[in-house]
Amino acid sequence: MEKDVVILGIESSCDETAAAVVVNGRRVLSNIISSQIETHKLYGGVVPEIASRKHIENIDGVVKEALESAKVSLDDIDAIAVTYGPGLVGALLVGVAHAKALAYTAGKPLVGVHHIEGHVSANFIESEELEPPFICMIVSGGHTHLVKVADYGSYEIIGRTRDDAAGEAFDKVARAIGLGYPGGPKIDKLSQEGDENAIEFPKAKIADAPYDFSFSGVKSAVLNYINICNMKGEEVNKADVAASFQKSVVDAIVSRTMMAAKEYKIDKVALAGGVAANRGLREGMKKACQELGIKLYYPAPVLCTDNAAMIASAGYYEYMKGIRHGLDLNAIANLRLGERVGNIR
Ligand code: KG4
Ligand code: ZN
Repeated sequence: MEKDVVILGIESSCDETAAAVVVNGRRVLSNIISSQIETHKLYGGVVPEIASRKHIENIDGVVKEALESAKVSLDDIDAIAVTYGPGLVGALLVGVAHAKALAYTAGKPLVGVHHIEGHVSANFIESEELEPPFICMIVSGGHTHLVKVADYGSYEIIGRTRDDAAGEAFDKVARAIGLGYPGGPKIDKLSQEGDENAIEFPKAKIADAPYDFSFSGVKSAVLNYINICNMKGEEVNKADVAASFQKSVVDAIVSRTMMAAKEYKIDKVALAGGVAANRGLREGMKKACQELGIKLYYPAPVLCTDNAAMIASAGYYEYMKGIRHGLDLNAIANLRLGERVGNIR
């Protein structure tokens, strides 16, 4: 039997400081997440400068806790995987600098990981049997990508958003109806009490790019609807707005994903990213997949939103490919999916 490969993952691209220990890319020994939501809530969204400062305060404790609760020491770790993009540059730099310091002092290899590849890899942790190729719909606060995962670490982008990311649309609509930040989970909850057919919001299609998304139209339609109600002195039924908005977004995501599965003749579909925790999306996708005989995968909610177990998993597959970053690894705010940057040996 081959020796286990133990990876320490570190994530700090947005407002979660996270560290995790994962064996062979799939078995989680620890997954520590320190969320800054309570702080950023006061401002209605993530304040980059504050996020960086919070990461600096938290990262050492979070990494120590991840090692302790996994009952391992740095000596037992085979490599340190860290998110180096995309994300808030100041926030990313904290994780990258910490990972570099650990790699240097412990004499361990350093592996830079793409944040979105991490989200995709959360599915490997959740589902032991899942292997590429499969279609993956990544819907997070900053990204909306429909991809074919051809192999571990190898992606073909089929479609993407032209404007807002799916999670961003959830957050903006939530703010408009007074639900606060982060809006996704709140809209998800309120939708359960509303009628999804109460209001017809548009589902934007891009004429020459059937796989691309546009969510700014539906967001504006919701804002217009609320303004018109206010002008007429009519009360806004928030639950109906939430449910109808969610349906419009879910329909757009499900229809494009199914179209891709059919065209690429792939009978495995996975969801990834924070919005993959959405109950309406999971239900809609389940129904569509059943009709077409497609097997659906999605991670548990804690693995959908930002965490470091997913980074350790993606890092494992990079490590097994022989990817090693130098100690000059830098944070790259707009790192593209499938792109590897830096001195790699
Ligand atoms: O993946 P993630 O944690 O961070 C990014 O990489 O962006 O995603 C955060 C996003 C936020 O926009 C949040 O509102 C959304 O995911 N989200 C949800 C749900 N849970 C989180 N959106 C809809 N329904 C949910 N249950
Ligand atoms: Zn994320």
